[in-house]
Amino acid sequence: MHIKTLSLKNFRNYESEEITFSDGINILTGANAQGKTNAAEAIFFLCTGYSPRANRDRLVIKNGTETAEIKGLAGSKYGDVSVRIIFNKNDKKNVYVNGMQVLKIGELLGNMHSVFFNPSELKLVQESPEDRRRFLNVSLSQMSKAYFYALSRYNKILAQRNNLLKDPDRDVIFDTLPVWDQSLVKEAAKIIASRNAFLEDIAPIAEEKHAIISDGKESLKMKTESGYYGSEEDIATALYEDLKTALERDIRLGYTSIGPHRDDIKFVLNGDDVRVFGSQGQQRTVALSLKLAEAEIFYKKFGEYPIVILDDVLSELDKKRQRKLVAAVENMQTIFTATGIDRTVFKNKNYRRLIIENGKVKKYED
Ligand SMILES: Nc1ncnc2c1ncn2[C@@H]1O[C@H](COP(=O)(O)OP(=O)(O)OP(=O)(O)O)[C@@H](O)[C@H]1O
Ligand SMILES: [Mg+2]
Repeated sequence: MHIKTLSLKNFRNYESEEITFSDGINILTGANAQGKTNAAEAIFFLCTGYSPRANRDRLVIKNGTETAEIKGLAGSKYGDVSVRIIFNKNDKKNVYVNGMQVLKIGELLGNMHSVFFNPSELKLVQESPEDRRRFLNVSLSQMSKAYFYALSRYNKILAQRNNLLKDPDRDVIFDTLPVWDQSLVKEAAKIIASRNAFLEDIAPIAEEKHAIISDGKESLKMKTESGYYGSEEDIATALYEDLKTALERDIRLGYTSIGPHRDDIKFVLNGDDVRVFGSQGQQRTVALSLKLAEAEIFYKKFGEYPIVILDDVLSELDKKRQRKLVAAVENMQTIFTATGIDRTVFKNKNYRRLIIENGKVKKYED
């Protein structure tokens, strides 16, 4: 899958611009604050319906204007697909796939695929389990609508369950909960089983990517601790029992203390926990390896790579790791952003350089 053109109207610092990408390596370069990340963000938006950095959709509308529009034309092995999103001040957006309006984000997912990495993705390794679950959710939702819908339903039921746990009338809790928990564990089991399968697939590939980028110097191990394995039915049964056991504690806490909303992934590098002992460059390499592995999983599942968006990644890696990274993405459409490039890193590679200045592509260099 590759994006051919991206049109932006009143999107962030872009007034009206169409950007044309090559199906190989693209490098958006330019000084700070010219719109490189904004363009990368727009592509991710077309794939997932949300921004990797704004928590309010209206923030993307160019200051002083009322609506923004982004449109992407992508080529896939099934033919071309176009996605268009119109943003309004009230945070409601209109989404069109091949000219037809889609009313649910679930219907947008799966039309354009991408893997996105920018420095804040380091949270994936450094920060809370929530960031690691977000990684799982974003990537699994792009791959499976069933996952996306199970997750939405699970979150809804979980919020209601947590409210119920705070009810002062214990009889109400004990009468109502068993029925709710039946629905809760059904959705939870779908989520856990999908994550288990995904992690089983992705771990060895991420470990291999890490070895490549670190030139064999580091050995990564990925571990998960969901605690529930087997078929969806097995998982549902075990979780239902555990919820019963945890009930008194959950009432005391006022929230549900077990389930997929508590899952985590652990990264171990040469025997040590990366979160605690890893250097910045090592943590970055782990996060990056995970994203590259995600791209490989997409390939296995759909027979083509997603659009790989690597925002501001190069400057943080040493030359050797940069070279390894570029070699690792050579057969995927990749969109790098950087303030400048070191030509030695891209020696003998085909790439398109796009110089971005103040919301315009000033120059294309192939
Ligand atoms: N809604 C908006 N309206 C107008 N301008 C905006 C809006 N949102 C962001 N911008 C502007 O976009 C610019 C930032 O663009 P972007 O993040 O793409 O920069 P960049 O080229 O990636 O820079 P860097 O090299 O620093 O990462 C900022 O100057 C910001 O003021
Ligand atoms: Mg940027």
